[in-house]
Amino acid sequence: MAKKESRELTDVLSSSQKKYKPSKEMVQNSNAGDYEAILKKAAKNPLKFWEEAANNLKWFKKWDEVFSDKEKPFFKWFLGAKCNLAYNALDRHIEEGKINKKTAIIWEEESGRTRKFTYQELYTEVNKLANALRGMGVDRGDRIAIYMPNIPEIVFAMLACAKVGAMHSVVYAGFSSKALADRIDDAQAKVLFTADGSFRRGKVVDLKSIADAAVKNAKSIEKVVVVQNNKAKVNFNKKCDVWYHDFVKGQSVYAHCAEMDSEDPAFVLYTSGTTSKPKGVIHVHGGYPVGVLQTMKYVFDIKGDEIFWCTADPGWITGHSYIIYGPLLAGITTLMYEGVPDMPKPDRIWKVVEKYKVNILYTAPTLIRAMMKYGINWPKAHKMESLRLLGSVGEPINPEAWKWFYTYVGKKRCPIMDTWWQTETGMNMITPLPSAPLKAGSACKPFPGIIADVVDKKGKSVPTGKGGFLVIRNQWPSMIRTIFNNPERYIKTYWSEIRGMYFAGDVAAKDKEGYFWIQGRTDDVLKVAGHRIGTAEVESAFVSHKSVVEAAVIGVPDPVKGEVIVAFVILAGKVKPSEELNMEIRKHVRKEIGPVAVIKDIKFIDKLPKTRSGKIMRRVLKAQELGLEVGDTSAMVN
Ligand code: WTA
Repeated sequence: MAKKESRELTDVLSSSQKKYKPSKEMVQNSNAGDYEAILKKAAKNPLKFWEEAANNLKWFKKWDEVFSDKEKPFFKWFLGAKCNLAYNALDRHIEEGKINKKTAIIWEEESGRTRKFTYQELYTEVNKLANALRGMGVDRGDRIAIYMPNIPEIVFAMLACAKVGAMHSVVYAGFSSKALADRIDDAQAKVLFTADGSFRRGKVVDLKSIADAAVKNAKSIEKVVVVQNNKAKVNFNKKCDVWYHDFVKGQSVYAHCAEMDSEDPAFVLYTSGTTSKPKGVIHVHGGYPVGVLQTMKYVFDIKGDEIFWCTADPGWITGHSYIIYGPLLAGITTLMYEGVPDMPKPDRIWKVVEKYKVNILYTAPTLIRAMMKYGINWPKAHKMESLRLLGSVGEPINPEAWKWFYTYVGKKRCPIMDTWWQTETGMNMITPLPSAPLKAGSACKPFPGIIADVVDKKGKSVPTGKGGFLVIRNQWPSMIRTIFNNPERYIKTYWSEIRGMYFAGDVAAKDKEGYFWIQGRTDDVLKVAGHRIGTAEVESAFVSHKSVVEAAVIGVPDPVKGEVIVAFVILAGKVKPSEELNMEIRKHVRKEIGPVAVIKDIKFIDKLPKTRSGKIMRRVLKAQELGLEVGDTSAMVN
């Protein structure tokens, strides 16, 4: 546990109190209306607020009860209802018949190649794939792994799974074959979707061979469906591999949606925690879309004709909720970009915004900081008049980056929605709405209907200006339901640290006006370029190298990536530290985890600071590395 918890935050709080007030028009025209009024209204009766939100979706059968805590912490929403996530994201629109010709997906690749799909075309693609999956025996409750780039076929695959009632498990394509194999194995996935490659920084990344290596160790896979994305030459295993275009060939363009119970799992998404085993977070068919659509309406102020660009990857929850499900549930156009943001030049993002007249740009602090390094002339050269709202997610946004984004990208016209949330929460939780007065660096207040707080270990609210644990005191429809195959871990991680509240794992403070200032994680979870990685996963990758007997890793601040990894390594008996060994271990870890784990430095040492019970005291290493006060070391033995 970091010392941060009791730190006084007066510095942060007093230096950033300037308010950016919304214009009268912005308040009048926003879906949520007056900010304080909507917060008050929802707080009076959150269940009513969510029930009204649920009425924006279509249900095969309505609920008997909105919410139940009878089996807490296994909370249930919309009990007795029948529905389907894909139905609400897609089929519902086709049945209504109003947006069939509207573009659902615009896709652009780094090379400039583009593809577009209308809602009708998306519907056809998803149906063919759903039929192909059914044809090979995929059924409700089955798990399907997806290891793909940010291309339209990943949307087809996710929706087709939801349609037949199978659970998709998307694994970020920056993870290694081992990380993929572990996740396939935990979920016992039957099918793996992948692609021949992905285009990045002018080169094709060979995804297929990574997938092949994973399948060797993941015995549950019966079929590998391969999208021909780059026409790259790949190994093809005739026994289990099939090209995507052959898989769907001749399939009917109609497919029915499985009638699911509202509490049936829709997908599993693995995320890092404090042990080396990632947690399979479960979201459900009923509540998840209710929460996500409500944030599309209130946070992103969707009216129905927007071009929405979320720069995340579908492999993370941000991509699930705000590249795919959110925009489709709202019936708008989502933009997908496969590639890096500074190719061929550092104004690629601004060019794409202008080319497609993007209205809402939702991105991450790490990307903003990377763009800041190139200077203001790149965004200055682009008017980006279509933009009306900006968003930030993934890590705390520093006030400098906030102001830069506001001034040079939003041209002081576009409010920034700094949205705090998690894989587990499914939707934006602490966030401004467009009608809220903003403070640079604060995620503002909880979304309507959400009761968040900053508390001490006993669950008592801490005074304003003091740091403490971020908790959610009530429940919401798109919350995590359990951890796949591990309900005990679900209880222990989220509901046992502080009795009766959802423990988020973040440190935060509230200011006098009730604005939240998120400080970062209190546990051993790192945020490298906004990507969530567990120290334990990285450490076990180090230890799996033959020359390493023990390792501890910490996150240290990085001006662009937010955090990067520094590792402390104890070498085996007679092994001598060397530059070559350093490189070799780095390569090994990269292979074990994937390029997501950015290692700044490896330090060879003799001993690690530990508690009597043998737990590594990472905060001691961190304090030493950063030249900070070490704090209480009474528990340390060496
Ligand atoms: C961090 C990403 C500050 C936080 C949606 C959280 C943030 C973790 C913000 C979840 C924000 C996310 N300000 N910190 N606006 N958004 N975080 O599961 O530490 O990948 O607990 O979900 O990201 O990461 P995850």
